[in-house]
Amino acid sequence: MQAITIFSNLKNAISSAKLSKKTIGFVPTMGALHKGHASLIKYALKECDNVVVSIFVNPTQFNNAEDLEKYPRTLDKDVAFLETISHNIIIYAPTANEVYGDQIASKSYNFGALETVMEGAHRSGHFDGVGTVLNKLFRQVTPHKAYFGEKDFQQLVIVKKLVKKEHLPIEIIGCPIHRQEDGLAMSSRNSRLTKNQLEIAPFIYKTLLEAKDKFRTLSASQLKKYVCAQFDQKEGLDLEYFEIVNEKNLQPLSRKRTHQKYRAFLAVYAGDVRLIDNIALN
Ligand code: PAF
Repeated sequence: MQAITIFSNLKNAISSAKLSKKTIGFVPTMGALHKGHASLIKYALKECDNVVVSIFVNPTQFNNAEDLEKYPRTLDKDVAFLETISHNIIIYAPTANEVYGDQIASKSYNFGALETVMEGAHRSGHFDGVGTVLNKLFRQVTPHKAYFGEKDFQQLVIVKKLVKKEHLPIEIIGCPIHRQEDGLAMSSRNSRLTKNQLEIAPFIYKTLLEAKDKFRTLSASQLKKYVCAQFDQKEGLDLEYFEIVNEKNLQPLSRKRTHQKYRAFLAVYAGDVRLIDNIALN
């Protein structure tokens, strides 16, 4: 299998698949593929004849130049990994020029209150960058369905809004978080963790499970206090935020209401590696 790097070649591959009435699934990634990506691709392969996996480290969604520079880039390994999954995968690994032309810049979207919390509040311009690149990739790949992991739950909700805003006929599908046996959510950033950090990182999920358990009896502010205190005592992990929000509109919970679904989200630094995770609370 070889990665397609040029849009016109991707277009030909997709046109011929569509001519033979094949359905196209799409899994956009930034590479450094792991079992979490494999699980998204397997969901897509169950529902679609062909699956396009894009591998593109999108510069406009990084608000920190060092984070962009350090983001792992492992294309040859990624291609070999995809070969072990299926031969019905089309790999698209474009250059920035192929995606953006000569203007690498974000469009300014207004995702409303969805982008003023959590990742949007802590990573200025991040969702404009995500929206911009996905709008471009969706128009190049023209998939029937696109698959996103719930680890980036806020991104998933915003992508659903993006396709509505851009009138794109694509069904957006959220897939459950894939975890290591010790509970750590799979992420490309995990490859940057030291042995010691890998040992302490499962504390994140352990604390989320505790939060879920305590959600029945504690108020949102009591639960926040509890989780902050847990991280204060934990050496090697710095909590950036912990939020409890309504799953639909991502707004912070003030008073629990019946029939509403809530989720807890956090971002944590292990050294200079930023990790995010979340859990459904009810
Ligand atoms: O989730 C990611 O890896 C990225 O945000 C995405 C969706 C590939 C856009 O660059």
